Amino acid sequence: LLILAFGPGLALAGDKKIVLGFSQVGAESEWRTANTQSIKDAAAKEGITLKFSDAQQKQENQIKAIRSFIAQRVDVIAFSPVVETGWEPVLREARAAKIPVILTDRAVSSKDESLWVTFLGSDFVEEGRRAAKWLIDYQPVKELAAKGEVNIVELQGTVGSAPAIDRKKGFEEVLKDQPKFKIIRSQTGDFTRAKGKEVMEAFLKAEGKKINVLYAHNDDMAIGAIQAIEEAGLRPGKDVIIVSIDAVKGAFEAMIAGKLNCTVECSPLLGPQLMSLAKDVVAGKPVPRRIVTQEGVFPQETAAKEFPSRKY
Ligand code: AHR
Repeated sequence: LLILAFGPGLALAGDKKIVLGFSQVGAESEWRTANTQSIKDAAAKEGITLKFSDAQQKQENQIKAIRSFIAQRVDVIAFSPVVETGWEPVLREARAAKIPVILTDRAVSSKDESLWVTFLGSDFVEEGRRAAKWLIDYQPVKELAAKGEVNIVELQGTVGSAPAIDRKKGFEEVLKDQPKFKIIRSQTGDFTRAKGKEVMEAFLKAEGKKINVLYAHNDDMAIGAIQAIEEAGLRPGKDVIIVSIDAVKGAFEAMIAGKLNCTVECSPLLGPQLMSLAKDVVAGKPVPRRIVTQEGVFPQETAAKEFPSRKY
């Protein structure tokens, strides 16, 4: 297709606006809401017609949405796969229809990597490593380790999703050389506040004051767990040290209140890069196979200073 750009704000494929079909995971977290907003805003700014579909955390809904984008003959499809596996048949259908596919945020696990043109998103393994590295260097944790074992409970993300698999992997990779650090319980909280609270309640019932640390695969689950910890009469951020991932505003508020100790950044602001990739892909321009988002780590002591400039 021939692409003609009439200044910023109007992207054309041939003589019509580019149509992008985007299948979103759902609205499970503060991160996801910010990601959806970023994609909608960037599409409007770039003059791209966005067909947006919310899968409510269900793979079958994403597959249906992708099939419907193929039937509507959109110019390009992008999606954030809720889980890593089970995509080959529908991606082959997109390829047969000559519609390019861009992965955003989460990866697909498949031997056939030609089923998508590029993958834009974070390095989730590195996020897990960063959480563990911060933890072993945190003075109150060092003091605990000097006296005995450090008992960790883990709230995992959605079962089978790339961030849940990779954040666990990166965290464990760093802790494997730290014999004093033990993950005593690990269960999914599906990336939601409600589930994070519910599972933390169960952890507290089973392990009580033995729990020294909570590692949550996202801030929303940590925020839900904070409530469970307080209801159990313990002090989040002190009796239970908490590290989570995303760096959403809610996490900064919890850190300012002294209830969360550290958040590892995972940026949801992928919209502008996605639109630029969509334009290049439709124009047949070469794009990198993998674009990794640049991110930082925010311990509690930085929260008050950083909060005013946070964008999500
Ligand atoms: O895929 C990114 C993850 O999904 C975010 O960390 C989490 O908050 C979201 O639901």
